[in-house]
Amino acid sequence: MAKKLYNSLWFQFWKIWNKIGPPWRPSVKEIKWWEKKIVELNKSNKNLKALVLGSTPEIRDMLAKNKIDTTLLDANQSMYEAMNKLIKKKNNREKLVVGNWLEMEKVLGENRFDFVIGDAPHCNLAYKTWPRFFDGLYNVLKPGGYFMVGSITLEFNERQTIEDLFNKYKRKKKYFKNFKNRLWELYQLADEKGVWTNEVRGFSYEAVRKLLKREGAKRKIGLKELDENLWFLSGDINGEALGNYVEVMPTLEEQINLQSKWFYLDELYLILDHSAFKIRRAMILKSKRLK
Ligand SMILES: C[S@@+](CC[C@H](N)C(=O)[O-])C[C@H]1O[C@@H](n2cnc3c(N)ncnc32)[C@H](O)[C@@H]1O
Repeated sequence: MAKKLYNSLWFQFWKIWNKIGPPWRPSVKEIKWWEKKIVELNKSNKNLKALVLGSTPEIRDMLAKNKIDTTLLDANQSMYEAMNKLIKKKNNREKLVVGNWLEMEKVLGENRFDFVIGDAPHCNLAYKTWPRFFDGLYNVLKPGGYFMVGSITLEFNERQTIEDLFNKYKRKKKYFKNFKNRLWELYQLADEKGVWTNEVRGFSYEAVRKLLKREGAKRKIGLKELDENLWFLSGDINGEALGNYVEVMPTLEEQINLQSKWFYLDELYLILDHSAFKIRRAMILKSKRLK
């Protein structure tokens, strides 16, 4: 079992994973975009070896459909077991390895995989450990291998104050019933004090929650109403699931710069059918390793 996970609270998170949707999970379009690349790779190599970081059901279903030899690396066996309940297509060529993404080559060995795929795994790792993470990826990948990855990002221009948010809520209560709308509105609070901090390059859910509670109380909005209409997930206003989770999201420029030591940015994919997708970028990175 991996020691010292940055956001160890995820050990309980499996309970709500099936209640949330894109852009916190990969969308159908994003999965299809990765699939296109995998089908192309499969044409020249019938024995592709894939590594999945995490247990994301949408990714595993797509790999099962394409009969890909798959290894999952997740520190959290209970997440894996919970995600198994959401799987639509069983993959007989899939196996789980319980281990830490920061010890990839130690756990899996070097030069093993044609591609690695994961739904924003690095956003669960302390920013200062990212060089070690990319180093590990580089080592477990075969030369020229691919890293297909979703990233959570604040790379959008829209920002608002908590005051703006409550004013909008007063005018458009129905709009806030929708999960994507609510998520989009809350991420726009990134510049409020303590929400995104440069020190950890992270977005603090606890800071957003405290802000909502404090400012909600001033406006006589009770906890139940906040919980159901203004928080990311209903039933979580006291942090039952998200707790003090910090989502690590440096600027996209900083991320692309950092990863460029090990990877080329091969393709970038933007989904634009709802503003909330602006918090997400899908990428295909190509390893710079030559042999
Ligand atoms: C947001 S949750 C699930 C997200 C992911 N999209 C999935 O479906 O598996 C994060 C998961 O990443 C795993 N995790 C977080 N940090 C990890 C690490 N350092 N090594 C391995 N797994 C880790 C947790 O155990 C948890 O299952």
